[in-house]
Amino acid sequence: MGIRENEAVRAILGRRSIRRFEDRPVDTETVELLIECACAAPSAANVRPCHFVVVTERRLLSAMAEGHPYAKMMFEAPLAVVVCGEPDKSDFAARYWEEDCSAAMENLLLAAHALSLGGVWIGVRHAPGQEARIRDLLGIPDRIAVLGVAALGYGKEQKEPHSGIPDGALHLGGW
Ligand SMILES: Cc1cc2nc3c(=O)[nH]c(=O)nc-3n(C[C@H](O)[C@H](O)[C@H](O)COP(=O)(O)O)c2cc1C
Repeated sequence: MGIRENEAVRAILGRRSIRRFEDRPVDTETVELLIECACAAPSAANVRPCHFVVVTERRLLSAMAEGHPYAKMMFEAPLAVVVCGEPDKSDFAARYWEEDCSAAMENLLLAAHALSLGGVWIGVRHAPGQEARIRDLLGIPDRIAVLGVAALGYGKEQKEPHSGIPDGALHLGGW
């Protein structure tokens, strides 16, 4: 078996943003495994400042879709996981919660793909007005920061896997 056939490599290259979903719920065991995979991401000083809000209620999914300019797929998605951080947990958390939560988000999306689900990262933290809106909608405390939302479900579209390195991105042995 060549290195490109490695299962983990195939999952990483095969993960794409999926924005069309079947009308089919994701079972609890799968949701818990997704969160467990998110929690396995690296974390600065191992502080683990991430929190995950799981949303399946259609009213809330639609409300999240309505108020966000780039989240209309949430009208269709059966599941959203809101990835949050707790900056006050420690000095390391204050400095690195965004990196920690981004790593968790990517693990979540990779695990979803590996389990035959599709998903897409919806930016919240740096999308004007979105963090406060999502916090209000879901009752997330003020001391908790919202990084983003993973819209998830069984995909209704397929995309080609990634391949190659973008021109100019690789700098061997120094810039
Ligand atoms: C920080 C961040 C925010 C994103 N926000 C959105 C978003 O609001 N809506 C959306 O449809 N996709 C969003 N995406 C997904 C990107 O558009 C997508 O990853 C990119 O087009 C590359 O496609 P791929 O994921 O299939 O490789 C976001 C991705 C990242 C990393």
